[in-house]
Amino acid sequence: MSPTGRRLTVNDAPVDLAGVPAEERLLDTLRWRLGLRGTKEGCRSGECGACTVLVEGRGRLSCLTLTRELEGLSVTTIEAVDRDPVGAVVQEAFAEEGGLQCGYCTPGFVMAATGLLHDRTRARSAAEVVRGLGGNLCRCTGYLSIRRAVERAHRRLA
Ligand code: FES
Ligand code: FES
Repeated sequence: MSPTGRRLTVNDAPVDLAGVPAEERLLDTLRWRLGLRGTKEGCRSGECGACTVLVEGRGRLSCLTLTRELEGLSVTTIEAVDRDPVGAVVQEAFAEEGGLQCGYCTPGFVMAATGLLHDRTRARSAAEVVRGLGGNLCRCTGYLSIRRAVERAHRRLA
């Protein structure tokens, strides 16, 4: 337990919030405080999706999230997505379909798709999952390979 008792969990490890300023964004905590550089920094304004992580299994833009708001919650980044059964399938599908070129957007797509595919309560179709990725931008692939990867993962998880 941290001295203050205030902490969150990142990739199953406790993170002490005592030294984290109130205005620090989760994106900066992950990349610069914890060295988890797989979460990418794009626009920093909620426009590109590159910074998406999972919070309690749901996709969340880390550039628009204050770290201290997540006290007591669990964060998963791309570095640990393969520990998540759904995330492992999504990651594999992206590799198989070649859903990347420069790869800058890929962690955000993988995390966002994983979050959407976790949402079984809404029985999402593959098309709904693809639509749900509308906030994630890629300037390299034309999205076709990304869509195929999502469809492949959806089939495997059906
Ligand atoms: S860096 Fe967060 S949405 Fe672009
Ligand atoms: S693969 Fe380059 S931005 Fe998506």
